[in-house]
Amino acid sequence: MNPQTIAIVKATVPALQAHGEAITSHFYRIMFERHPEVKAFFNEAHQAAGSQARALAGAVLAYATYIDRLDEIAGALPRIIEKHAALGVLPEHYPVVGACLLRAIKDVLGDAATDEIIAAWGEAYQSLAALLIAAEEEVYRANAAQTGGWRGEREFRVARREDESEVITSFYLEPTDGGPLLAFSPGQYLTLVLNIDGEPLRRNYSLSDAPGKPWYRISVKKEEGGKASNWLHETAAIGTLLKVQAPCGDFVLQPADEHARPLVLVTGGVGITPAMSMLESMAHTGRPVHFIHAARHGGAHAFRARVDALAAKHANVKPLYVYDTPRDADRPHATGFVTRELLAQQLPADRDVDLYFLGPKPFMKSVYANGVALGVPKQQLRYEFFGPLEALKA
Ligand SMILES: Cc1cc2nc3c(=O)[nH]c(=O)nc-3n(C[C@H](O)[C@H](O)[C@H](O)COP(=O)(O)OP(=O)(O)OC[C@H]3O[C@@H](n4cnc5c(N)ncnc54)[C@H](O)[C@@H]3O)c2cc1C
Ligand code: HEM
Repeated sequence: MNPQTIAIVKATVPALQAHGEAITSHFYRIMFERHPEVKAFFNEAHQAAGSQARALAGAVLAYATYIDRLDEIAGALPRIIEKHAALGVLPEHYPVVGACLLRAIKDVLGDAATDEIIAAWGEAYQSLAALLIAAEEEVYRANAAQTGGWRGEREFRVARREDESEVITSFYLEPTDGGPLLAFSPGQYLTLVLNIDGEPLRRNYSLSDAPGKPWYRISVKKEEGGKASNWLHETAAIGTLLKVQAPCGDFVLQPADEHARPLVLVTGGVGITPAMSMLESMAHTGRPVHFIHAARHGGAHAFRARVDALAAKHANVKPLYVYDTPRDADRPHATGFVTRELLAQQLPADRDVDLYFLGPKPFMKSVYANGVALGVPKQQLRYEFFGPLEALKA
């Protein structure tokens, strides 16, 4: 990019700060109107909640701010790249997004968005798009090149279903081609490419079992009013065929950490799924694993019997169950929420742990704040969102 383009883009930072979400919300409206073919990639609930528009506005603003120091935002790119690759975003989609984004900037900023500004943003978008396209192609290529890997969609069959709680059911998926399965890292997720009553949908589901099995297991919570989760619970039976995109995601156990620092997994509700995969693959290694799980009550608590069995077999696995509205017969270790005091009791005194957490947003904000306050190094706090990334700090 030439220095003049960089200067013009940087000069739009205040306007983006003021109008970023208005621009990205308008962007989605016009893109879905003009290009219905890309709508199926996006989750309507994330649009309605505004979280996707906020995530995109945040990314565009960060890009404009650091356009002359891209290394400052390099850390944020893997998540976007993995998310795009999981969903199957392709190079041909970029011009559609680019044209609609420029249109939205023009519409929202009006006369302030001069031809010069739009041209500079066009060039800046091309440059970012080229970077993302190349990185996403690298993910597709690497996945396809490995044993059991593939590119695009692969057909799987539901081989088994198992209820894990009153609201969470596991689905064991086996490829219909009978071939091997691509190894994944615990914490990664699949994308199901669905068509429900004529409506195309894509949904991410974390892999909940250890890698190396002849199946992929996903465990799905039945969401009230949710299209994919209700369809899976009510319609997907043994033998149902599903189109699946290869495992992706950067919320993974860091290779250097394995067998090293104690692992603390703190989850709420269905956020337990990637933690199960992490626990299943770490329990036998001797690495201390603190498995802290918050559920409303015993009826909503998934995988309790399995975690208890692992803890009975492996002294390094230490479960702690916390229920906020226990039923009479429930026997949690604690009632209420996962408080700072509770976390403090679980963590070793030096706080040198790898703390992975996932759950509803208020739960995540609290675990993050408590982890920081208790002195867990920030780079050892890792989290995933079951939706677009959101801010955890006030
Ligand atoms: C990386 C990742 C991993 C995930 N892993 C898991 C997992 O392991 N297990 C799991 O169960 N889920 C997981 N999810 C969540 C999953 O992808 C789905 O979002 C979830 O199953 C809900 O999808 P749905 O189609 O059933 O609901 P949706 O139809 O998307 O609806 C979700 C909620 O939003 C409401 N809603 C929908 N559309 C609108 C609208 N237009 N306006 C207002 N409200 C609306 C619905 O009523 C419902 O309450 C994961 C998500 C991500 C991003
Ligand atoms: C330079 C261009 C782009 C940028 C900067 C960008 C940025 C982002 C960001 C920040 C997120 C949120 C990631 C997260 O936290 O989950 C995201 C998600 C997503 N992006 Fe992009 N993106 C770009 C291009 C595209 C293109 C071309 C497509 C193709 C249709 C696309 C489709 C999606 C989808 C489907 C999601 C997930 C949405 C959801 O959860 O509902 N993006 N992108």
